[in-house]
Amino acid sequence: MAPRGETTGYAPMAKLTFGFFSFLLVVSTTNGLPLPPEMYYQAGNIRCLRCPAGTYVGVPCTTQDTVGKCFPCHTGSSFSEGFTGLDHCLNCLSCRDDQEEVRPCTATQNAECRCKKGTYCPLDHPCEVCLTCTESCPPGQELQFPCNSTSDSHCGPAQSGSWIIMVCVPILLILLLLIGLCLCKHLKWCKDRRSRVQMTENPDTEGIPLIYPCLVFSAETKKEDQEAIFRRSWDHFVEEVPMPKWDQFMRMLCLSPNSVNEAKENNRDNSREQKIAMLDAWYQQKSGNVNELLSYLHSIRLHTPATIIVQKLLQEGYYVDTN
Ligand SMILES: *[C@@H]1O[C@H](CO)[C@@H](O)[C@H](O)[C@H]1NC(C)=O
Repeated sequence: MAPRGETTGYAPMAKLTFGFFSFLLVVSTTNGLPLPPEMYYQAGNIRCLRCPAGTYVGVPCTTQDTVGKCFPCHTGSSFSEGFTGLDHCLNCLSCRDDQEEVRPCTATQNAECRCKKGTYCPLDHPCEVCLTCTESCPPGQELQFPCNSTSDSHCGPAQSGSWIIMVCVPILLILLLLIGLCLCKHLKWCKDRRSRVQMTENPDTEGIPLIYPCLVFSAETKKEDQEAIFRRSWDHFVEEVPMPKWDQFMRMLCLSPNSVNEAKENNRDNSREQKIAMLDAWYQQKSGNVNELLSYLHSIRLHTPATIIVQKLLQEGYYVDTN
């Protein structure tokens, strides 16, 4: 029987296997060792040795326990795996359009296909068509295994849930607190509370006099000396008003920034003279009196300095307190 022109595809590998097989056969027959039963096949009444992988039985043997004629498979379109008693090679698998080839078909091994990326075929089902992978997990779940060619994506309870709670809950609490504080501004009880807090925070609250003094010049003070005496009292203000509060004091006097700057320019390096010059500027604009200056001190909560100044003025004897 003719080999049907299949010798063209006779792979060197098949030759080698065939050579080894013949060697085995020679060894086994010369040594009289029996070959395992799966090495044989039945051809009618006669028992033949199988052909090697990558070939098929072209002509069965005519002598018991020998190899007939083996012809090679068409590499790329047919194959045989292991020793074979078949009179033909098996057709190679060709991958479908929705599959990709993982391994090509060889004379001794079938091709292997798998579903393209983004699709899958479960291993325990016949794969007629590749199914589309599930892309996202339902709310509250997270991806545990991504989709691959044999298994859909697996979702499971979100493990990081506790982590999210640990981050989100404090942020939410802080937001609520801020909203609460904003609302609080508009509520009366909050206002009361704020003013109470301010009262307790201010260390000078104790200095508030029960009755504010009202100073007038004493009967002995001559009319023509009064301005000079008032001007001299400014020294007490310079001494008693703490440095950081001085600017605030000047703002209470409605002294323009220009006047303040001029006073500073004209009395460089002498902070006492600067302050006196500012009071002088105020006096020239408004011609106020000592009670006015004292009331400004009280309005910016400098109760203690105001009280000390009053004590000093009363000691000097030019003023008396009518209250
Ligand atoms: C596909 O994923 C499953 C689990 O989701 C896994 O058991 C299997 O080994 C994977 N297969 C491949 C080819 O990666």
